[in-house]
Amino acid sequence: MSINIAAFVSGGGTNLQALIDEIEKKNINGKIQLILSNNENAYAIKRGEKHGIESIYIGKKNFSDINERNGKIIEILQEKNIDLIILAGYMSIIDKKLVRLYKNRIINIHPSLIPSFCGKGFYGKKVHEGVLEYGVKVTGATVHFVDEGTDTGPVILQKSVIVKEDDTIDSLSERVLKVEHEILPLAVKYFCEGKIKVEGRKVKIGGLEDETCTH
Ligand code: GAR
Repeated sequence: MSINIAAFVSGGGTNLQALIDEIEKKNINGKIQLILSNNENAYAIKRGEKHGIESIYIGKKNFSDINERNGKIIEILQEKNIDLIILAGYMSIIDKKLVRLYKNRIINIHPSLIPSFCGKGFYGKKVHEGVLEYGVKVTGATVHFVDEGTDTGPVILQKSVIVKEDDTIDSLSERVLKVEHEILPLAVKYFCEGKIKVEGRKVKIGGLEDETCTH
């Protein structure tokens, strides 16, 4: 049975694109039924359109009341029988009710090695800014399940990236994004194959064939 996916986006959507590409190559047993954006100008919406994927804008402009906004999101997900939510560069906090409803069925990609450079205030390029300011030598990307905290849920996959002495926010973010585009689709593939088991905070993946990812 194919998994019904909703992708939540806010920006450029390169992670969304990586997912679309792997699904079209039939490497993932799932289908993106819906793209939900909290930014009506997100380029990610255009990417979806090019592949015939329906998108919807739900944000402060059309639902100014937060409870109505969150209620509408749940209503749409249920209407579309969504099994799995992917936060593919979604810059908004997920409602606790939704987290409970989709326990261990919401996957986020974060551009650092969690638990470093994550949590409140660390999103998008701010993460790489923090990495460069601190002077760490290694960073990377993390795919994790979403729980009620910010970037605190069980880790599914991580992959490291070496920080170079002459790195800028842009050069580092470019190399981290490459890694994101590998591990996000891979985690989604494992999820859709039913290979992911969550035991407390620990994620176990049976029959891993890709040894380039640390898990
Ligand atoms: C990605 O680097 C993603 O990890 C990050 O935003 C970028 C979105 O890029 N997400 C977060 O910081 C979430 N806390 P994209 O729109 O090109 O996929």
